[in-house]
Amino acid sequence: MAGGVVVNDAGGKTYPGHMTAFVFFTCLVASSGGLIFGYDIGISGGVTSMDSFLKQFFPSVYAQAEASKDANQYCKFNSQLLTLFTSSLYLAALATSFVAASVTRVFGRKWSMFCGGLTFLAGSALNGAATDVLMLILGRILLGIGVGFANQSVPLYLSEMAPAKIRGMLNIGFQLMTTIGILAANLINYATVSIEGGWGWRIGLGLAGVPALVITVGALALPDTPNSLIARGYHEDAKAVLVRIRGTDDVHEEYDDMVAASEEASSIEHPWRNILERKYRPQLTVAVLIPFFQQLTGINVIMFYAPVLFLTIGFGDDASLMSAVITGLVNMFATVVSIVSVDRLGRRALFLQGGTQMFISQIVVGTLIALQFGTAGVGEMSRSNAMLLVLFICLYVAGFAWSWGPLGWLVPSEVFSLEIRSAGQSIAVCVNMTLTFIIGQSFLSMLCTLKFGLFYFFAGWMFVMTVFIALFLPETKGVAIEEMNLVWSRHWFWGKYVSIEGTRHGSRRSTSV
Ligand code: BGC
Repeated sequence: MAGGVVVNDAGGKTYPGHMTAFVFFTCLVASSGGLIFGYDIGISGGVTSMDSFLKQFFPSVYAQAEASKDANQYCKFNSQLLTLFTSSLYLAALATSFVAASVTRVFGRKWSMFCGGLTFLAGSALNGAATDVLMLILGRILLGIGVGFANQSVPLYLSEMAPAKIRGMLNIGFQLMTTIGILAANLINYATVSIEGGWGWRIGLGLAGVPALVITVGALALPDTPNSLIARGYHEDAKAVLVRIRGTDDVHEEYDDMVAASEEASSIEHPWRNILERKYRPQLTVAVLIPFFQQLTGINVIMFYAPVLFLTIGFGDDASLMSAVITGLVNMFATVVSIVSVDRLGRRALFLQGGTQMFISQIVVGTLIALQFGTAGVGEMSRSNAMLLVLFICLYVAGFAWSWGPLGWLVPSEVFSLEIRSAGQSIAVCVNMTLTFIIGQSFLSMLCTLKFGLFYFFAGWMFVMTVFIALFLPETKGVAIEEMNLVWSRHWFWGKYVSIEGTRHGSRRSTSV
């Protein structure tokens, strides 16, 4: 085959291309979209456990928490209004992901990232200056719009820019930035909780403007992806970008395949209707189930409510934020494990190992809490048990951070063909945000009714999703993004849905064998 192109395990092509400074830099800037997502996840748990914040905006929750100091531990913070503050962002994000689908497809990935940064900037200003609950919630909605745009466009951008061999690694930059955002938020929570005058939460909420500025200015400086440029008719620009990001002039074969994919795609006028066709069933299933399962790992119970959870378990005010910092560090460092291994071990190995580790940890956490608080929810946790609990929570977070966390964004962004890629990614974002909203909204009352059984509930889901991966997810490491159909067509189950006969893969295969 011409031009140094080789055939990989999946029968697809591996085009020339390596990590260049340019692709590294563009992906680094785009990944900073993850910062705004992560910062949000981390900050709300902290401010909603600050007395001064609760007193000013949610006095009834504050009074309830004070009054129930010795009562049932599971039900202390149960307030719908408080959880609405946390989860309104996710409602806004899920609605926005559909608008973002069109902006990303019609105007390019870059402008979606820019819109995300700008609305996020406005949201952080409103939140930092909030004087009543309305301002708080409006600010959260603007932040949600920002997250909707960024999470729809950034993973796609990264997967399209990266050479196939290191696509996993570059895409996970997004998740790494997410974890850095969460950690930064945890540290800021920790530093601001004791500010005299009780306005520390304003700093926390207002500082969200910093990551917003990074992605807004960054998006302006970035080139769009070759796939998006071709699809919008800028063929020469696309070729120039491709040469720069691959670090070689030998890009003709990849470029021609992109043009062919774009021509196949341009015959599709209604991506939303087409995605429902039988031949896209495997991709659609992945776009729905991967983010669905990612949230049913229960990770956001830890991310949003770690400070509240640790308070519930009996840590003091500071210790609870400290524990959140510990989980934040584990989350960040364990993500690096997936960055270095995802393109070597593959997606499946990480999913299966991480899933098993999380399953075991959930069972241990549930059991420790059951032994201490039983069903009545009263009691104090001994220091040694509390330490053991923190250890297993960390093992659980680490398992997530090298499996479902990064792969929950990587896999949906890499499995679609161009014509439905933007629509498919919106579905993934929408499912993710819907479930994040539902879990955010119901965790405190679920803890109140299911008690320690909540952890067994999530463990049950861990089992189901690990079996799903074992049976239904084909390995996608190293396969060029325009060649994914080959992977589906060879899968024992999905092969029934995807046929490559009559497509460019089918004809190429018959001529190249
Ligand atoms: C998930 C978030 C989660 C975060 C934790 C992301 O991949 O989508 O819901 O809070 O990981 O690191």
